[in-house]
Amino acid sequence: MLTPESGTDVKRTSLHGNWSSRMAFILAVTGSAVGLGNIWKFPYIAGQNGGGAFVLVYLLCVILIGMPVMMSEILIGRRGRRNPVATMALLGEEEGASKNWKWVGAIGVLAGFFILSYYSVIGGWTLTYVFKSAMGSFNGASPSEVELAFSTFTGSAWKLTLSHTIFMGLTVFVVARGVERGLEKAVRFMVPALLLLMLALLGYAISSGHFGAGLDFMFSADFGALDWDSVLAALGQAFFTLSIGMGAVMAYGAYLPEETSITGASAAVVAADTGIAILAGLVIFPLVFANNLNPADGPGLVFITLPLAFGQMTGGTFFATIFFVLLTFAAWTSALGLVEPAVAFCVEHLKRSRAQAAVLVGGLIWLMGFATVFSFNLLADFKFYKGTLFDNLDHLTSNVMLPLGGVLIVVFAAWVMCRNSTAEELGGAGRLYKIWRFLARYLAPVAILFVFAKAIGVIPELS
Ligand code: TRP
Repeated sequence: MLTPESGTDVKRTSLHGNWSSRMAFILAVTGSAVGLGNIWKFPYIAGQNGGGAFVLVYLLCVILIGMPVMMSEILIGRRGRRNPVATMALLGEEEGASKNWKWVGAIGVLAGFFILSYYSVIGGWTLTYVFKSAMGSFNGASPSEVELAFSTFTGSAWKLTLSHTIFMGLTVFVVARGVERGLEKAVRFMVPALLLLMLALLGYAISSGHFGAGLDFMFSADFGALDWDSVLAALGQAFFTLSIGMGAVMAYGAYLPEETSITGASAAVVAADTGIAILAGLVIFPLVFANNLNPADGPGLVFITLPLAFGQMTGGTFFATIFFVLLTFAAWTSALGLVEPAVAFCVEHLKRSRAQAAVLVGGLIWLMGFATVFSFNLLADFKFYKGTLFDNLDHLTSNVMLPLGGVLIVVFAAWVMCRNSTAEELGGAGRLYKIWRFLARYLAPVAILFVFAKAIGVIPELS
């Protein structure tokens, strides 16, 4: 299968079909990028890392590192047009390096496994909150009641197992049917609807009287409070939220038509994803301060602040239900992106049908999900290194596997691939190309490795 074609003007076709348009591709990548990372994770990570300075570092990481990594992934994907493992092997050989670059793809497939194993559990929470909201459980509830409802729910291994199972089932169902039909349509409706609802919530947060405190927390930077662990967390969050560093965007890029501008598409996705994360922060922090909650409370933050806010609104039952439905959709479209590399791999190499591959991969990930399910109840006290099993899984994937995968991807695109190949994919060697190449060659790999070394204490402090 891995016969390398020679010459620079390679025209391959993907086994899995192509996106119907440039818009479809942008929507699919946006759908994978916009997810729990923006609305669930970003606010609580920002909260745990002190707010402002963290947000600033996160934005710098998104623009200076995230953007060039995303462009590199898409261009590699489109040139190889296979699953990430095969694409890396093929291009590695074709560019005169080594087939062993396939391991970058393999690490990515594994990272997707690990991430989805916990992502699906949280997806189950959002699903459960659709029903809780629809039943009006939060009407007029006090902060302590909403907190209790959350801890009672996550304290039940059975409830988490059930919702995790349903969420994983939904994911497998869509992946098995193929991406184009269901997915494109869902995303086309979901992203704009989510944006509108977030804007409406922003209006509510502004009227809560604590918008100033929220703004202040998000944007006034106190760099003294920022340690290298927080910088690494900001870097990891940039990778996580943009879905980069694990070959997911590479897999999607494989289905991208030849003439689409990779730079333009990347910019659109990065803008949409960052906009939604910032909006989520602007909605959530005023509510945190209005209700005397703690911004560093962790994974329960959205599941406590938003039900509280909705519970005090007229029509809150309705809006809360819609909100959690949209969040479930956002999580769902991201979950599809997380399994796509593994599924494409199984289809191409194990010669399985898409449906069989989806069930196989989904089943394995479902099993692994129990590590996260139990982290909130039976094994809540089993802590090591960064905390519970869930905390460690999250740290290992977001803060280690994705950034390191990102380094290997940019190094491959900007050092191993020849100038002609990358310039061809990026539409010529103009000014934007030069900026990309500088960031991908020098800034991104050096910055990532530096933050990494600092966070694990390899480079000592000067003072
Ligand atoms: N970006 C997703 C979110 O913010 C999570 C994610 C990380 C992801 N890596 C991915 C989604 C790869 C799809 C593919 O929620």
